[in-house]
Amino acid sequence: MQTLRLNHNENDIQTAGKILADGGLVAVPTETVYGLAANALDGEAVAKIFAAKGRPMDNPLIVHIADFGDMERFSLVREIPEAAYRLAATFWPGPLTMIMKKGSAIPDAVSARLDTVAVRFPSHPLAQAVIRAAGVPLAAPSANLSGSPSPTTARHVLHDMDGKIDAVLDGGECQVGLESTVITLVTDIPRVLRPGGVTVEMLTEALGEVEVDDAVVHRLADGVKAASPGMKYKHYAPKANVILLQCSDADFLDYVNCHAGRGVAVLCCDEDVPLLHNVKAISLGCRGDYGTQAHRLFDSLRRIDGYGDVLTVFSRLPSTDGVGLAVYNRLIRAAGFEVIDLGKN
Ligand code: TXA
Ligand code: MG
Repeated sequence: MQTLRLNHNENDIQTAGKILADGGLVAVPTETVYGLAANALDGEAVAKIFAAKGRPMDNPLIVHIADFGDMERFSLVREIPEAAYRLAATFWPGPLTMIMKKGSAIPDAVSARLDTVAVRFPSHPLAQAVIRAAGVPLAAPSANLSGSPSPTTARHVLHDMDGKIDAVLDGGECQVGLESTVITLVTDIPRVLRPGGVTVEMLTEALGEVEVDDAVVHRLADGVKAASPGMKYKHYAPKANVILLQCSDADFLDYVNCHAGRGVAVLCCDEDVPLLHNVKAISLGCRGDYGTQAHRLFDSLRRIDGYGDVLTVFSRLPSTDGVGLAVYNRLIRAAGFEVIDLGKN
């Protein structure tokens, strides 16, 4: 299949909408990452997403809407809980996904046979325009091959998906750079299943009380069922081996310089770059600027693969404050939960 390149103009938006309405797949930019979209009400179209990504069938998809009223209009949810109104008032449209009891229109392929559905109203104008042009809600996971870092540019999408999908709509770089925050509203106390640009602190302020699922920062014990199936897979991983170091800034620089060499890369901050020698140093931004670190993380992981000769990547264990928690969550999965605590050695 030839993958059509579409751009930010009315004609191409209508073309994307038509492909989607006809049951095809289009990669679409959102404010978080690029999504691989299909008509969420069409089980056959949705099945093509799983095939193109190589995604396990037990991992459910997020349904994207362009209006709060779409949830009722298309029977996406059984009921809208009070908390959803409150969260939507503050964070929609935006990088927040809410899990609710699913409505009658949701095909099994979307919900992976769970009795819930994840819904998001993205703020990206192109994402909204394509949903409107399609005339239906769109199921869309991140538009990467399953297991690799999520795409934040159309180039990343084509690297993984060229020839496998009908079209990609180029909207430039995604602003947030990490996937949306996922919160479930079917537990007694709303619970964060995946951290993102809408932080736990912001959610707590809006709702009074939220919990953070154990799987956000810890490896799931064998046999424990994941609240969010996506959290059980090794994820976001470049081909090189990612190793996280828990240590002081001085120890970090010493350790990396000691282990430097041709096959070594380091994800670091701007302040580190002049102090590192004989390694490929990739800065995620200034120390403490978690927003920029989130924005650059996936592109940096893909760049490491682009070097071709990197076997080991070192990085600090990130802070869990604010958007830092989202960076932590992605990096610890990229590392397969391997952390070296230098204080203990
Ligand atoms: O920012 C985003 O959320 C992007 C853009 C395209 O919107 N989408 C995205 O989708 O990251 P995906 O499929 O890569 O991640 C969705 C996550 C997975 O971890 C999945 O297991 C979880 O949400 N999820 C979806 N439906 C769920 C449900 N009903 N219950 C629990 N977890 C669910
Ligand atoms: Mg994904």
